[in-house]
Amino acid sequence: STFAFICLILRLKHTHLKVIERIKQPISFEMELFEKKFRLSMSSKVALLNRITHYIVNRKGKQMRPMFVFLSAKMVSNGEMSERTYRGASVIELIHTATLVHDDVVDDSNQRRSFFSINALWKNKIAVLVGDFLLSKGLLFCIDSNDFDLLKIISVAVREMSEGELLQIEKARSLDITEEVYYNIIRQKTATLIAACCSLGAASVKPNSNDIETMRKFGELIGMAFQIKDDLFDYGTRKIGKPTGIDIKDQKMTLPLIYTLNNCSKNKRDWLVNSIKRHNKDPKRVREVIAFVKDSGGLDYAVLKMKDFQNQALKLIQHYPNSSYKEALEMMVNYVIDRNK
Ligand code: IPE
Ligand code: IPE
Ligand code: MG
Ligand code: MG
Repeated sequence: STFAFICLILRLKHTHLKVIERIKQPISFEMELFEKKFRLSMSSKVALLNRITHYIVNRKGKQMRPMFVFLSAKMVSNGEMSERTYRGASVIELIHTATLVHDDVVDDSNQRRSFFSINALWKNKIAVLVGDFLLSKGLLFCIDSNDFDLLKIISVAVREMSEGELLQIEKARSLDITEEVYYNIIRQKTATLIAACCSLGAASVKPNSNDIETMRKFGELIGMAFQIKDDLFDYGTRKIGKPTGIDIKDQKMTLPLIYTLNNCSKNKRDWLVNSIKRHNKDPKRVREVIAFVKDSGGLDYAVLKMKDFQNQALKLIQHYPNSSYKEALEMMVNYVIDRNK
């Protein structure tokens, strides 16, 4: 039966691979070219910086954001693409990388993409500066090619992300967070960048069209589902290439916990609040909180909400004519929910 179990795992891994391969199929050429451009976009004359950016590009992530850019562009224009689309994809991935480098400083996290984070290897000072460098490279990329419409979309996303991260810190202190505030936080810190991917993809091929706003909304809804999924990972024990089980320790209130706090007896609520306020660094107590959240249906509730955002997103693109791009984009929406890292 151990053998059967291993077979099952291998098969699951295999089907998982296939989904992402199938999504990439209609944009495989674009993704390859993108990778080359992305590498080049980080170069610098400073040797230390080059060493670090090398380290970064060699440990690439899932690259979901450039995929969203390409698929959105192609879906709204029936397969058309332009240099602007490539630039947009590179800029977004640069900004995303910058925010991850900064996020690991903010969260004091030493692992990213299954390896050491930049701050773990080079310390906070260097990580902050590298993040700024990547951010400026991204913005300059738009300016140098006069893509001011894309620059606007991206700058809005950057502002929103910083505000979202700060709002999260503010709320972690007070513990008085409602579901509404949680949605505002994740909309700002995560969903706006994915919204930017989809609207920028559309804007790169159809400037001034209604598609830009439709795709922004679409991306925002997926982005919400994306962060709920990310927050669910934290309650699991699966290896996802970055630390798990740290949100409670950091007093970060996410949807499963918010639901539980609002739907349990006063006694339990006091115990929860006390656990988070005063025993958040005690691993045994944190495990008890996680177990209680599970038993109270907190995870199930978050899954329900995640699927709600997923369905709203799918509805928004229903009216586009069927194409391999639309199909891939729909698979991408489902991948956000089903992914295992
Ligand atoms: C992680 O994003 C940051 C969040 C918004 C949760 P990804 O999960 O897309 O990170 P990579 O690029 O694949 O590592
Ligand atoms: C996501 O925040 C990063 C940004 C949106 C800037 P988290 O802190 O929740 O994400 P991970 O889990 O570290 O990737
Ligand atoms: Mg964070
Ligand atoms: Mg983090």
